[in-house]
Amino acid sequence: MNNREKLFNLVKRVVVEQKKTFLPSRISIGWPVFDHLEITSALNTLLDLRISQGLKTREFEEKFAEYIGTKYAVAVNSGTSANILAIATLIEAGDMKKGDEVILPATTFSSVASPILQLGLVPVYVDVDPTSWNINPAEIQKAISKKTRAIMVVHTFGNPADMPEIMRIAKKYRLKVIEDSCEAHGSRIGKRMCGSFGDIITFSFYVAHNITTGEGGMVLTNSQKYCDILTSLRQFGRLPIRLVQSKDFIYKDSIIGKYNKQYVFCRLGYNVCMTDIAASLGIEQLKKLDSFNQSRIKNVTSYNSALSKHAKYLRLPTVRQGAFHSFYGYPMVIEKNAPFRREELLQFLESKSIENRPFFAGCLPDQPAFRSAPKRIVGKLPISRWIRDNGFFIGCHPGLSKEQIESVISSFNSFLAKY
Ligand SMILES: Cc1ncc(COP(=O)(O)O)c(C=O)c1O
Repeated sequence: MNNREKLFNLVKRVVVEQKKTFLPSRISIGWPVFDHLEITSALNTLLDLRISQGLKTREFEEKFAEYIGTKYAVAVNSGTSANILAIATLIEAGDMKKGDEVILPATTFSSVASPILQLGLVPVYVDVDPTSWNINPAEIQKAISKKTRAIMVVHTFGNPADMPEIMRIAKKYRLKVIEDSCEAHGSRIGKRMCGSFGDIITFSFYVAHNITTGEGGMVLTNSQKYCDILTSLRQFGRLPIRLVQSKDFIYKDSIIGKYNKQYVFCRLGYNVCMTDIAASLGIEQLKKLDSFNQSRIKNVTSYNSALSKHAKYLRLPTVRQGAFHSFYGYPMVIEKNAPFRREELLQFLESKSIENRPFFAGCLPDQPAFRSAPKRIVGKLPISRWIRDNGFFIGCHPGLSKEQIESVISSFNSFLAKY
């Protein structure tokens, strides 16, 4: 056995020991479910001195694209960077320009809307559906104007949005679809993965997500043109990686001549690369994604069957017929007729060490940064505002024990017993 193998065996023993004692102190909303395989994979990469973007990143991209079912994948350092590159790519490709409108759900995370604004476009907020809490296709239809160029869809908490209908609307009005799948690793409609419908798709691998690289993200597409722009934007605006790495391609122009391909900058870009260390974690996590999701479903099934008796006051998550919801978290909304306030319930849950969060930004155009920013709002957003004031989510991740799931259920039961 060589020294590396000895080290990895030791790591395995340390991880097994640590698992006995190092548990989340609270019933957390997310938790990196790692074992020795993630740690040794990252360690191996580190010992090989592969510390920036390289072969491991390429391997993760290929495996993730294959899992989702797209031709191309471009890894980045976060889901936010993925959204920035997705929007910037559509602009670079000539599919949108400053001042154009992008339709998006009002209830979502900030970095769905911020890249739209940062890149000079106008977000058009539409209301979400009262049961799926996803963008409502009927509201999309109402929101379309002469300036609309794209729809930005989010699979909220991993619940698949109505992609067949949204793609139909997009086709009819010739709109691009940006499919933010940052909360939807492994979600499906029938056999088709969320993340395989849109023109350009984004994922996050932040620590609370269904698989994690700590910080990380990915942009997917079936378009070679978009992929080339993405790899260029990801690294300083240099030539697309395909050309830089091609033996047959030589760069030459009348001013800089036959220049080193790596140092030809063809657009203004960013530096948002994933490191090979993070990609090594991602490769191992991806192998476990389906089994992680099955554990989530098991926990969700326990929550659903225990909490459905409180349906008078608590609206529980629903799943569309034929869809697979990957449950990034377990969301609920307090019904209007409930005799208690959200804060009372959340304080009670906190006192029982049950971590909880609001539905991300609640209603995005009501958030301080977005109030004064350019926008168009369609209707009065009654569902998004109800969610803003009454929505919350708790954890259902595979790191939770049977006892913790039971403790969540008994805490809800004892709070609601009063009513
Ligand atoms: C829908 C959505 N889009 C984008 C992001 C941003 O991802 P990241 O935290 O990796 O930047 C998140 C964050 O969780 C998200 O929920």
